[in-house]
Amino acid sequence: MSRKYVIAGNWKMNKNPAEAVALINELKPLVADAACDVVVAVPFVDLPAALEAVKGSKIGVAAQNCHWEKSGAFTGEISAEMLKSMGVGYVIIGHSERRTYFGDTDVTVQKRVRAALDAGLTVILCVGEYLEQREQGVTGEVCAMQTKIALGGVSADEMSRVIIAYEPVWAIGTGRTATARQADEVCALIRATLAGLYGRSVADSTVIQYGGSMNAANAAELLAQKDVDGGLIGGASLKPADFAAIVAAAK
Ligand code: 13P
Repeated sequence: MSRKYVIAGNWKMNKNPAEAVALINELKPLVADAACDVVVAVPFVDLPAALEAVKGSKIGVAAQNCHWEKSGAFTGEISAEMLKSMGVGYVIIGHSERRTYFGDTDVTVQKRVRAALDAGLTVILCVGEYLEQREQGVTGEVCAMQTKIALGGVSADEMSRVIIAYEPVWAIGTGRTATARQADEVCALIRATLAGLYGRSVADSTVIQYGGSMNAANAAELLAQKDVDGGLIGGASLKPADFAAIVAAAK
């Protein structure tokens, strides 16, 4: 069982192309010796500049969403095929901000995952419970259901291109991080769900990240947990030194 840590920065709707290049150029020397995979998920308009800026480094580039159709009358949308054609390697799918503000559902998440895998991308699939769900004791059910529906139709072979990010919604952008124990518990539960779907070997080789107010100060403890294989970092990924400190903690 060998899983490589993956640390991904989700920039959300921040940085224009020039600012993206500047941030990546600051980051590059800081993560040159990373023992883990490093990814930056940038706004769509930053992708060309980011792909150019990461050249010669180990940093991978992700988009933050994709549509499920290859092309067509879907004003304002971007297809997985388009991302792949540019050289993008990863795409975040099912982020809670997409689910909460833009109407993404388990079913549309499943369709996006399918399209991204068909296009040859690696998916960072986000799952996570709302505070009310945690308080009602249904975190496990919610995360297992989101995982199962999103992966409907995904084969065991394709799972080598799926990363799962456990992001409790109440921890995102709130400064209220899940405890290391809470993070590990749910990541283990997601892994058990994968074992049920695909068997132990796929479950043990799938990277499961934690996300939600992860920062330079709390990363080491979170990443030391048995079932936490990396992080999906929002706010702290916009600060090169902080993001690099999280990368350094992933070993
Ligand atoms: P924060 O790290 O800002 O809480 O955001 C987490 C997140 O949503 C990453 O996708």
